[in-house]
Amino acid sequence: MDKYWWKESAIGIPSITGEVPGPRSREMHAHTARYMKGLSSQVKLFPVCFEEGHGITLTDVDGNRYLDFSSGIYVTSLGHCHPKVSEAIAKWANKLMNAHDFTTPVKEKLMEKMAGILPGGLNAIQLYSDGTSAVEAAIRAARAITGRHEFLSCFRDFHGKSMAAVSCAQMIRGDVHSYGPTRAPGFYMVPRPDPYRPLWTKQDGTIDTDRYIAFYDEFIRESTVGNHAAFVLEPAQGWAGSIFPPDDFFPKLIPLIRKYKMLLVDDEVLAGMGRTGEWLCLDHWNVVPDVVTFGKSFGNGFPVTAMVVKEEYGEALEKISASSSYGGNPMACAAALASIEVIENENILDNVRSVGHYFMNRMQQMKRDHPIIGDVKGKGFLLGIELVKDKSTKEPFEEAGKKVYQKAFRKGLAWIPAGHILRMSPPLIMDEEYAKLGMDIIEEAIGEVEKEFGYI
Ligand SMILES: Cc1ncc(COP(=O)(O)O)c(C=O)c1O
Repeated sequence: MDKYWWKESAIGIPSITGEVPGPRSREMHAHTARYMKGLSSQVKLFPVCFEEGHGITLTDVDGNRYLDFSSGIYVTSLGHCHPKVSEAIAKWANKLMNAHDFTTPVKEKLMEKMAGILPGGLNAIQLYSDGTSAVEAAIRAARAITGRHEFLSCFRDFHGKSMAAVSCAQMIRGDVHSYGPTRAPGFYMVPRPDPYRPLWTKQDGTIDTDRYIAFYDEFIRESTVGNHAAFVLEPAQGWAGSIFPPDDFFPKLIPLIRKYKMLLVDDEVLAGMGRTGEWLCLDHWNVVPDVVTFGKSFGNGFPVTAMVVKEEYGEALEKISASSSYGGNPMACAAALASIEVIENENILDNVRSVGHYFMNRMQQMKRDHPIIGDVKGKGFLLGIELVKDKSTKEPFEEAGKKVYQKAFRKGLAWIPAGHILRMSPPLIMDEEYAKLGMDIIEEAIGEVEKEFGYI
């Protein structure tokens, strides 16, 4: 199959006729929202109703066609309805939908495939159907492996919405509250190095990773009760706005983790499976985690996720009764297997690396040209543009973030807002022509917002 299977459907995008969201979108959304509550800010800010997706194109119910810069929400990374993935799911949808956690031929193949691509003996696997469950299982596994129950995570990390997962994050943001007396006992959060907004710097003004590590060391001694099981971390912070740590962070964190006989739980639900140009985002720093989670891109839209531990810890998965009702059903295995094969056969990682360079160069030029762009960040196709009111004070520019999101959407770019950091996660199949098209739309929207706020 031609790797440019998606090109034909992309001809002429974006194609927007009239005001968007259009009349049918508005009507259907109003009916739905009458009953469906708890919608994301993405939807609230642009209540469009989508009907079809093909490759890098989304079509709404009024016939408007959008260029996709969101991959759902980092999910449909190989393009909407990739024929290989859809065929694989359909085959098992017609043959065997669920057999609990019995072995099936497609599960056998997936296990071999995963063990083949994962580094460092990471080959004790269990499957789930959402990222949160994989993270939850990782936390249970870490308890079983270490016999301890305290966890550290970092400011602005996000790991899902179960009780343990929200305890690894700060869920109070905007109009979202936590409503609990505390996070679950035994969960602690520490500052995470953000090169643009460092808490501790060296004399030359660059971020001082050693100070962060020294703080963690003291924190573990003074604040935990000595029952520390693991550090739970996103390799790069997706939800917070594509924030990557300095290159020396993970290499310096590992000795500390080993010193305290803790585990590194690497939550690759968002950043893994090729999004940054490597199978694991952590591969950029040659660090092998003890426990890792996958989701989102793993099944290219089919709900399938995974939790993997090093072979030596495989026994722990027996102790926590790791299986679930839907995890590893044949359709899920087929989706994950086909997605991995597509990444291999279509040289997706090479595409992410080369088009990723285009994105980074383009964003750096935009930063030079625009007064409200304070920082640009990312690797591969996990990208962020941070908007500020003033480059010297770095005051976040939330209002501009919302407006740029809405303006670009109206011009035909389906994407993800995150307050003052514009997040981009285009499908990994995208070539430079469409990458440029999307960035042109974003730059135009930023220019219009700068005009509105009197910057130019
Ligand atoms: C890093 C990370 N972990 C876990 C999750 C939770 O995944 P899910 O929404 O599939 O439960 C998310 C979701 O955005 C995520 O970004």
